[in-house]
Amino acid sequence: MVCFVLMKYASAFLRSLAVQRKEQTLKMSSAVHENVKNYYGSRLETSDDLQTNAACVLPSKPLAKTACEALKQVHPDVCKRYFGCGLVIPEKLEGCKVLDLGSGSGRDCFVLSKLVGERGQVIGLDMTDEMISASQKYVQYHQEKFGYSKPNTVFVKGYMEKLSDAAIQNKSLDVLVSNCVICLCPDKRTVLSEAFKVLKEGGELYYSDMYASKAVPDSFKEDPVLWGEGMAGALYWRDLITLVKDIGFSTPHLVAGSHIVVHNSELQRKIGDVKYASGTYRIFKLPQNSTKSKALVTYKGSVPDCADCFEFDSSHSFKTNVQVQVDAEMAAILQNTRFSTDFDITISETLDPNENATPQVCHLSPFLLADKLGSSVKQCSKTGH
Ligand SMILES: C[S@@+](CC[C@H](N)C(=O)[O-])C[C@H]1O[C@@H](n2cnc3c(N)ncnc32)[C@H](O)[C@@H]1O
Repeated sequence: MVCFVLMKYASAFLRSLAVQRKEQTLKMSSAVHENVKNYYGSRLETSDDLQTNAACVLPSKPLAKTACEALKQVHPDVCKRYFGCGLVIPEKLEGCKVLDLGSGSGRDCFVLSKLVGERGQVIGLDMTDEMISASQKYVQYHQEKFGYSKPNTVFVKGYMEKLSDAAIQNKSLDVLVSNCVICLCPDKRTVLSEAFKVLKEGGELYYSDMYASKAVPDSFKEDPVLWGEGMAGALYWRDLITLVKDIGFSTPHLVAGSHIVVHNSELQRKIGDVKYASGTYRIFKLPQNSTKSKALVTYKGSVPDCADCFEFDSSHSFKTNVQVQVDAEMAAILQNTRFSTDFDITISETLDPNENATPQVCHLSPFLLADKLGSSVKQCSKTGH
């Protein structure tokens, strides 16, 4: 009897702790949202006002020719307010429906607008009024520039944590992108779970974000500038891997990595020995029943802009007409996504199990990739002009 009463009290106590924790997270989220809205809505005029070189990091992967040309066509006023930290332009977008989480002034959305073509659709979502009006102002300009009979891009106000409130339907999107935004959110599990819900099966989340070299101390979270710059909320890069897999995504594939340099000495003092890097990952929502077997694959040279070689990520480069062995997860990605028609795939159980296994941690760290490529601040051309 005593035991039963104790158990009842213990479970009531645990329930109230969980409720308290949820309330705390909600309170913290709304305080952070207000601070970030203020930071990007009124405090920052142009990318030069950022306290890091984040908006200036050069991609460790060169931009494809068509993306480069599209970037040159984006209005200079839009580019002036670019606050991203990487490039979020995956291959083969013609006809796709794409959502940009935290679209800001819309630079990436307008590049995507060109690449998805008139049959495709781009939605930019942002919580800050000033950003929504700044981007909406240039929709017609880009529609005319690209010669479309009607706009293929819309900007909607909303929170990444609640995509249904912004009328984004579940399983409705081919590709999700985001550029330096998830580091501004305290509740990354909710953001990534929402992303998972709205992607179609076989869809891709391709995003750049700021990562920390270790778990960021709680004291950083009290500082509004560290939040605004993404440093307080940056995820320890290793935590991304467990988080996305736990939600149901594939292993993240690292595409690009660059060191981020903090040039404000006061902020340098505050962050101490925590280092930051920008990382671009591609992550897939695979069908639940997808078979996971190793395979021999041959790239056909058919992805636009990639006639000789398809650089899928920093450790997979598929040369045209050359057969290679891939691990079970990569085989599932190539079979179940928009790249399925670009490969000849032969499933095999008899391949050497040690060859080309699941990406190793050394292939997933944006810090190691940046070290390898020596990429950080170089001469920067963030506008493409
Ligand atoms: C660092 S800026 C990046 C903007 C844009 N992606 C770019 O590359 O220029 C971050 C943007 O994310 C938006 N944002 C931050 N947290 C958000 C949230 N929880 N939901 C929607 N938008 C958010 C901010 O309003 C801001 O415009």
